Amino acid sequence: MTPRNIFVTTALPYANGSFHIGHIMEYIQADIWVRFQRMQGHQLHFVCADDAHGAPIMLKAESEGITPEQLVGRIAAERKKYLEGFHIAFDNWHSTHSPENTALSQEIYGKLKAAGLIYTKSIEQFFDPVKQMFLADRYIKGGCPKCSAADQYGDACEVCGAVYAPTELKNPYSSLSGAPPVMKSSEHYFFKLSDARCRDFLKQWLDEAGHLQPQVANKAREWLTGDGDKALGDWDISRDAPYFGIEIPDTGGKKFFYVWLDAPIGYLASFKNYCAKKGIDFDRFLADPTTEQVHFIGKDIIYFHTLFWPAMLHFAGKKTPNQVNVHGFITVSGEKMSKSRGTGISPLRYLDVGMNPEWLRYYIAAKLNASVEDIDFNPDDFMARVNSDLVGKFVNIASRTAPFLTRLFDNRLSAQPGSGDAEAKLLGEVRASRDLIKQHYEQREFGKALREVMRLADLANEYLAQTAPWARAKDPALQASVQNICSTSLEVFRLLTIYLKPVLPELAQQVEAFLNIPPLDWSHADERCALGGSQINAYAHLMTRVEEKQLDALLDIEKETAKMTNTTPHPATPAKAGVAPPPQPSPASAGEGVISIDDFSKIDLRIAKIVNAETVEGADKLLRLTLDVGALGTKQVFAGIKSAYDPATLVGRLTVMVANLAPRKMKFGMSEGMVLAASGDTPGLFILSPDDGAQPGMKVK
Ligand code: 2FM
Ligand code: ZN
Repeated sequence: MTPRNIFVTTALPYANGSFHIGHIMEYIQADIWVRFQRMQGHQLHFVCADDAHGAPIMLKAESEGITPEQLVGRIAAERKKYLEGFHIAFDNWHSTHSPENTALSQEIYGKLKAAGLIYTKSIEQFFDPVKQMFLADRYIKGGCPKCSAADQYGDACEVCGAVYAPTELKNPYSSLSGAPPVMKSSEHYFFKLSDARCRDFLKQWLDEAGHLQPQVANKAREWLTGDGDKALGDWDISRDAPYFGIEIPDTGGKKFFYVWLDAPIGYLASFKNYCAKKGIDFDRFLADPTTEQVHFIGKDIIYFHTLFWPAMLHFAGKKTPNQVNVHGFITVSGEKMSKSRGTGISPLRYLDVGMNPEWLRYYIAAKLNASVEDIDFNPDDFMARVNSDLVGKFVNIASRTAPFLTRLFDNRLSAQPGSGDAEAKLLGEVRASRDLIKQHYEQREFGKALREVMRLADLANEYLAQTAPWARAKDPALQASVQNICSTSLEVFRLLTIYLKPVLPELAQQVEAFLNIPPLDWSHADERCALGGSQINAYAHLMTRVEEKQLDALLDIEKETAKMTNTTPHPATPAKAGVAPPPQPSPASAGEGVISIDDFSKIDLRIAKIVNAETVEGADKLLRLTLDVGALGTKQVFAGIKSAYDPATLVGRLTVMVANLAPRKMKFGMSEGMVLAASGDTPGLFILSPDDGAQPGMKVK
């Protein structure tokens, strides 16, 4: 076998927010594929990076009073605990805000320009005269041109559903400053995707087998060949200062690359950074025609990766992707997760409540296939599948047999596991599936691979039920056969561990230690009698079962419902109620309960406009509030204030919310923050209101 050289990436996450379950799903998918390929003896380099540029990151940093670099650095610092926590083994994590990316982006741009594929054109856009910046559509609000509803976004009305251009809004205003925007023209740089050379190249690239899943290639072909107002236009690749990005050469610091130009180049930048650390010749590796470049992405970013990215690379004289593997979204109990709001189950909470990361790896893998279908995380199904497959079927093989070897045979296996007809048949079946399982992994049909492994585990359990070593062990005349049964079972267990190792790397390591064997790779499945006559270690528990209370803790069901519906009066606190603070000890004598100003500044308090308020079916005390938080977007919050407010009277009011509270999955949906309300010893709940003039999204300090 000639080892393949493969360079693998996952989509670069924006550096303005923590990972959500969607990121983790993608990383698990890619990590399984990478581990599988490594087990075949191939050479893989698996890299990712923070996608650091763009206006949202610049504005978020500004609103926190820090530099974009500081914001990106803070987010980057928290990546490790997620990646290590879920055993996602990237070889390198870098940033698009890096010297490598600047050099590569400017080089690629220069080559596209030399190829005659870049031109400039003046365009008119809304400009915020206070912030002195051009405004992307999402930062413009105003009255709906159809139904006149106030405070609608620049692209669509949330009240009547109308879709329009921001220029059609009535009395438009900038959601950043509140000022009415003015139309202003500016010179933009375009990548000429409409050029016949680009179209011919893309047509050919899309048609080449293996680059894309069929449904993805079809979608991309539709975009490529659309005409009229569906025709693929040229791509605006520039943004005017102020912008956090990479400068376009020769523009005197006035023009920057649009974030989507330099983001995919970040794949190469991260790899280049890695190569420098490892002494790999980056240019040679990528120039080698046998090198494979493989990207894993979500279905929302197909457009960029199947049109712009291959065309940019090709016309810059670089290697084009060999595979762009697209996956669907992950829903939680059927509920769509919002990418920007990062809802869904919290990966950190999953780890914090002590759940085993390999349960999630297994569950996600079992649901994944090579299509772009969405997958659903369903808590009950999760518990049933993990407990039944991993614990009940797989681990069971070792836990039910190893103790007899310890007790009766000093942990020694028989010389020839698999002796006997039933044993040979079982082992033969388990070995025979090796290539089928390999093929499923190669094609990212992980669900099929795991179903096959579980079919084999079923066979092993049936064999155990029939041979009943626990009964034989009691009968001295039958004891000798116990060693062969248990040894055969452990040989099956070893093979199944190989098949599961891409998904369960940690568990596989524990099994290797238990069986006293070197790290398993795929070729170890060829060994006939790997364990024959060997001495293993005493069996130690390999995996526990998922418990209901862990899922409750993950979803925070009980606690949050109780907290949100708690109307038991509690003393008003100054921050919540705005009344005079009770006497406090001085900082010098600060005792328990006193926080520093740094602690307080961690709480992101914001002015929020209640754009919708409604009762929640099945909840006595909750109202579902939809809050407009300016540049932070719209948030849904469940508040235990039903006893005090008629929802209709709340709509249009401004209040104060905690905007950086980790989203919580509640029985009724996601709660993405908390509104502040005062309550005291007497009945009544009072939400806060700011003085006139406060705008949604303003910080409360
Ligand atoms: O959609 C996103 O989250 C982008 N940050 C993905 C970028 S992928 C690549 F192009 F960098
Ligand atoms: Zn409308």
